[in-house]
Amino acid sequence: MALIKEADYGTPASTSSQSITLDIDGRFVTVPIGTSIMRAAVQAGSQVPTLCSTDSLEAFGSCRLCLVEIEGRRGTPASCTTLAEAGMKVRTQTPKLAKLRRGVMELYISDHPLDCLTCSANGNCELQDMAGVVGLREVRYGYEGANHLNSEKDKSNPYFTFEPSKCILCSRCVRACEEVQGTFALTLDGRGFASTVSAGGESFIDSECVSCGACVQACPTATLMEKTVIHQGQPEHSEVTTCAYCGVGCSFKAEMQGNEVVRMVPHKDGKANHGHSCVKGRFAWGYATHRDRILNPMIRAKITDPWKEVTWEEAIGHAADEFKRIQARFGRDSIGGITSSRCTNEETFLVQKMVRAAFGNNNVDTCARVCHSPTGYGLKATFGTSAGTQDFDSVGASDVIVVIGANPTDAHPVFASHMKRRLREGARLIVVDPRKIDLVKSPHVQADFHLPLLPGTNVAIINAMSHVVVTEGLVDEAFVAERCEAGPFEQWRKFIAEDRNSPEALECVTGVPAADVRAAARLYATGGNAAIYYGLGVTEHSQGSTMVMGMANLAMATGNIGKRGVGINPLRGQNNVQGSCDMGSFPHEFSGYRHVSDDSTRGLFEQAWGIPLQREPGLRISNMLDAAVEGTFKGLYIQGEDIAQSDPNTQHVSAGLERIECVVVQDLFLNETSSFAHVFLPGSSFLEKDGTFTNAERRISRVRKVMPPKAGFADWEITAKLSEALGYPMHYAHPSEIMDEIARLTPTFSGVSYEKIDRLGSIQWPCNEKAPEGTPVMHIGGFVRGKGKFMLTEFIPTDERSTDRYPLILTTGRILSQYNVGAQTRRTANNVWHEEDVLEIHPFDAENRGIRDGDLVSLASRAGEITLHAKISDRMQPSVVYTTFHHALTGANVVTTEYSDWATNCPEYKVTAVQVHPAKHMSEWQKHHRETRRATTQIVKEAGAAK
Ligand code: SF4
Ligand code: SF4
Ligand code: SF4
Ligand code: FES
Repeated sequence: MALIKEADYGTPASTSSQSITLDIDGRFVTVPIGTSIMRAAVQAGSQVPTLCSTDSLEAFGSCRLCLVEIEGRRGTPASCTTLAEAGMKVRTQTPKLAKLRRGVMELYISDHPLDCLTCSANGNCELQDMAGVVGLREVRYGYEGANHLNSEKDKSNPYFTFEPSKCILCSRCVRACEEVQGTFALTLDGRGFASTVSAGGESFIDSECVSCGACVQACPTATLMEKTVIHQGQPEHSEVTTCAYCGVGCSFKAEMQGNEVVRMVPHKDGKANHGHSCVKGRFAWGYATHRDRILNPMIRAKITDPWKEVTWEEAIGHAADEFKRIQARFGRDSIGGITSSRCTNEETFLVQKMVRAAFGNNNVDTCARVCHSPTGYGLKATFGTSAGTQDFDSVGASDVIVVIGANPTDAHPVFASHMKRRLREGARLIVVDPRKIDLVKSPHVQADFHLPLLPGTNVAIINAMSHVVVTEGLVDEAFVAERCEAGPFEQWRKFIAEDRNSPEALECVTGVPAADVRAAARLYATGGNAAIYYGLGVTEHSQGSTMVMGMANLAMATGNIGKRGVGINPLRGQNNVQGSCDMGSFPHEFSGYRHVSDDSTRGLFEQAWGIPLQREPGLRISNMLDAAVEGTFKGLYIQGEDIAQSDPNTQHVSAGLERIECVVVQDLFLNETSSFAHVFLPGSSFLEKDGTFTNAERRISRVRKVMPPKAGFADWEITAKLSEALGYPMHYAHPSEIMDEIARLTPTFSGVSYEKIDRLGSIQWPCNEKAPEGTPVMHIGGFVRGKGKFMLTEFIPTDERSTDRYPLILTTGRILSQYNVGAQTRRTANNVWHEEDVLEIHPFDAENRGIRDGDLVSLASRAGEITLHAKISDRMQPSVVYTTFHHALTGANVVTTEYSDWATNCPEYKVTAVQVHPAKHMSEWQKHHRETRRATTQIVKEAGAAK
């Protein structure tokens, strides 16, 4: 396998549909109007030297290396900034140009350390390449004069260094930070000889930099360089794969030396990320080889016993025997399984298949239960399928962007950069969020409206916006008449027009001034293409499903569905939330969202799998835990999920897990849930297996194995072994065969195969006979369910209310550097940015309680109490506090409650009534937890030493 080199066309492509023809070095080339001469020259097969331009950035024209001669024109214009014209005659290689270029290059080199042989970029340096291309043989200006050769190196960022002595001031880093990332952390300071790249006058770690690495990727020299490359050297081969963190699903080249990753480089052809990434995907992959990885299967009789390392055969045999024993004693339905949104589609499909075929019940659920299950319910009811409507690129055609209950710059950073680019181009922005997220105001981005609603009042806000649309005559009547069911629409129109749904009537509920809601609604309805993007701030509520339907209603009423630039777009949290839902992980559905009670669908699976299947839906995660507490649920297989940390009401989860007789955890690391496990099966990271992930835009992308599984098997192989031991063998030689089975059994996937994904790069489902290459935008011309259906969305306040005892409302979210329960990111240098979860509290609430910034505080709800440090911040509104849930020791879910979405049981993480007061000591729960973890770590160490 060779290192994949991507072509660089020098400047970005033109989008014009009209073309022109010109003559470059005697060859005729036809290009779209708006194409630079440099790009046309590359297309014509001529190599024009360049240093300051690249096709991912707008041309800048500073290095003067790309000069060309144009017949009939004076001078030697820069080919990167000069547009090609019809009939032009361009010469890129003449003696005059060669002399000029050598002169330019000589100046660069005269202030550049000539340590090429020991430089980390040796062999992959554009300055070195260009010196060769222009034929530089001598440098007449020496180092005696003023130079930058002894400039101090900035090593403050944990992942890359900045070595100013090697900087050629091409400003590619500055422009990448602006144009690609949208952070504007870098500037070119000073003039002439004193010019320097500056991170706002600070070290990188102290600056506004968010460590996305776009500048490192753009730098043509070793000035900005990954520390891994400095330590390990240049990679020698690469493989394209998909990020295992968030639902953006960025495509990467894993650049390798043997079986070791040297760096992850965002893939330019990746259709979700177009060559960009965030700090997690690009840099935070070290967890995959972290020393904490458990590499041998382990078993124990009781959860208080030490773990004992055993062979794979013994561990699998023991788990299967236990499950069989439990079923023989407590009945078929006494065991179940949980699939993971961190695993591949193929692995998820196999877990649900094992549960349905080998366990013989439908007790399978997924962690999507606790994040986006309301999306499935709400979008299926209104549009007919559980999926975001657009591709990410669609945002480039949006005129109005509404962000509700999502924080893209932290949780979906690459999509946020894409969105910010559109906002800089002039799209309008409405942010609906209790907290002042970055998008409300950041460099060159300012929301037109921020509606800081009280947590738990989403449905009231969306109803109020729809009320304005209906009562002010802003309904797209033609769209509704043609595309939606008439009866439900009329019912909805009448309901939503009632005064009680007006912004004025709901102002006291939401806390948002009615005038702002009215103005935002008018902007959404009349501002052109309007798109809604939302996250867990929508779904994780007692009315999560209602809110999803409310947004769908608003989009249908204004005709904002079924074309580019519009739509309802869930921003999925984990890398494969969409896929795990698609693959039939819910207890009531087979893959492709078909109910288990549907006889013809069930018949199809029964025939394919050769075994009778149950027609009644099985248990959800919360039902499993309730049944465990009651003593009727006794065996659980959990793949890649840490429910003891991620699920709400930790005490209840613990109580359930403690009573289960056989908990099998398959994961990379021991985690909170494995404290309750009897069998531990070591899992494999995304670098160790083949498969596919499906991102938030329904895009199925390949995960490719770049190193052998450290513990011996990929996760899909482990599931297949367990299934076989249970008496239901599975015969797959490769995950592609699992995908072939998914395609045979799932109409929306019928056209999907590894061969096609490899050929097209990625595919957005539905992919079938009607759409053989996939479907970027859904519901064009008609909804999946035929006509769109308006649903009534009565606002019903949550039962979780603030009281005298618990007067504040806690809401939760994520931070850029950490991911979910932190199992991966906490094992990387990302901890330098967020080594603990803190409680954000408004200055008013802090002062009332005598709390100062950094104080240890107690956070108590009726469910439990934890302690953490306070961060005083006016991002919060008074009476609302906020924290993240990335660190196990914080135990944020100790305080969240048992309330959940009425339709799907998705927990109400986003609204918990709490009290905060200064604390002197760590909470009892945390003390107990810390001791348990110490004991577990000790047991594992001892097990390792004994071996
Ligand atoms: S790492 Fe990203 S945010 Fe930081 S300076 Fe470079 S481009 Fe800007
Ligand atoms: S740091 Fe690299 S990209 Fe930035 S100006 Fe210097 S050489 Fe160019
Ligand atoms: S945006 Fe998401 S998918 Fe992309 S690199 Fe970051 S974490 Fe990975
Ligand atoms: S590449 Fe054209 S001026 Fe630098």
